[in-house]
Amino acid sequence: MTPAARVRCDLIVGARPNFVKAAPVARQLLAAADRWAPRLVHTGQHYDINLSGLFFDQLGIRPDLNLEVGSGTHAVQTARIMVALDAAFDADAPALVIVFGDVNSTVAAALVAAKRGIAVAHVEAGLRSFDRAMPEEVNRIVTDSLSDLLFLTEASAQEHLRAEGVDRAKMHFVGNTMIDTLLRHVGEVRDRRVWAERGLEHKDYIVVTLHRPSNVDDPERLDAIVGAVVRLSRETPVVFPVHPRTRRRLEERGHWSALERTPGLRLADPLGYFEFIGLVDGARAVLTDSGGIQEEALVLEVPCVTLRTTTERPVTISCGGNVLVGDDPEAGLAALRAIVRDGGDRPSSSRPHGWDGRAAERILAVLDEWSLRRGDSLPAAR
Ligand code: UD1
Repeated sequence: MTPAARVRCDLIVGARPNFVKAAPVARQLLAAADRWAPRLVHTGQHYDINLSGLFFDQLGIRPDLNLEVGSGTHAVQTARIMVALDAAFDADAPALVIVFGDVNSTVAAALVAAKRGIAVAHVEAGLRSFDRAMPEEVNRIVTDSLSDLLFLTEASAQEHLRAEGVDRAKMHFVGNTMIDTLLRHVGEVRDRRVWAERGLEHKDYIVVTLHRPSNVDDPERLDAIVGAVVRLSRETPVVFPVHPRTRRRLEERGHWSALERTPGLRLADPLGYFEFIGLVDGARAVLTDSGGIQEEALVLEVPCVTLRTTTERPVTISCGGNVLVGDDPEAGLAALRAIVRDGGDRPSSSRPHGWDGRAAERILAVLDEWSLRRGDSLPAAR
């Protein structure tokens, strides 16, 4: 192929987990500059330095365009991304848009692209929690239904898409690009001994992260979670990097200064990717309501306790690395106590198929094949 036939494609990212999933795909496309002309577009959904800029620096990627949409209600944020992206496509329309995960930026970009007749590829397609009260579930369903290429991370995704009647030809099991990033950096991260920098003992502390609206926006639930975390920190040191939404809720409810004074509990600002992965890697266990952390903990072989009633990532459970404790913080506390009590005996976890650090390579192979098939019908890069 001549350089003139390079395919213009946009990778759309907006929030922390997107950056981690997109970095290896961006790298593959940049290395295939004879065939691809990628542009990395940051919607600006996350804008704090700790949630955004630091991630780009550490992952070695740089947005070519920042739409700076910021925060808002779901409707406002999604609409702002759509309007800004539409204008960006007016100026320079790609032949393909690649979206990641399940955040508002994902669904907004898929909608704009689909309405303009631009092909959509969804990385991490087919995951389902079957809980439509989760904004991410709505984002996943809509994005998948608009996508031409569906890149799957685990077997359950294929079952869900088949049950929804999706054409099998669109589905490509490629593995997990979030794990590509983890495996790329875990060596250098381990060398930093992040736990030691924070005065913690290896495998003798628990990392807590909570940011889902279902956990932190309900005041009574938040009270119960705070009670459980405080009791946990009396038994085992706890590190709690606090998402801005969670911090605001804790302050509104009057918990923040009491938590700051709780011995055994270390509150932290949101951490960079290296610091966070390093901290999880050195931990005895993790208590979380995040999606991606369930997967990262599995690969790092750190037992994960998930404070949710559902998970869209059931392979983390079947592989033995994750337990769902529902919405009862006391059940989370009991599960963590059991893990700590069991001393060095980790649950025997296995790594899911395709979580081998090469998912983005497989994505590039599919994209090359797709662009060859589409041939002359694709607008080329200018
Ligand atoms: C978003 C994703 C969620 C993902 C999470 C990862 C959606 C619907 N949710 O949730 O799936 O797990 O990112 O972190 O897309 N804020 C800041 N600084 C920022 C960004 C946000 O202070 O840089 C505060 C704002 O008050 C904002 C709130 O956090 O209103 C929520 O941010 P938002 O991007 O709407 O959702 P997240 O909770 O971060």
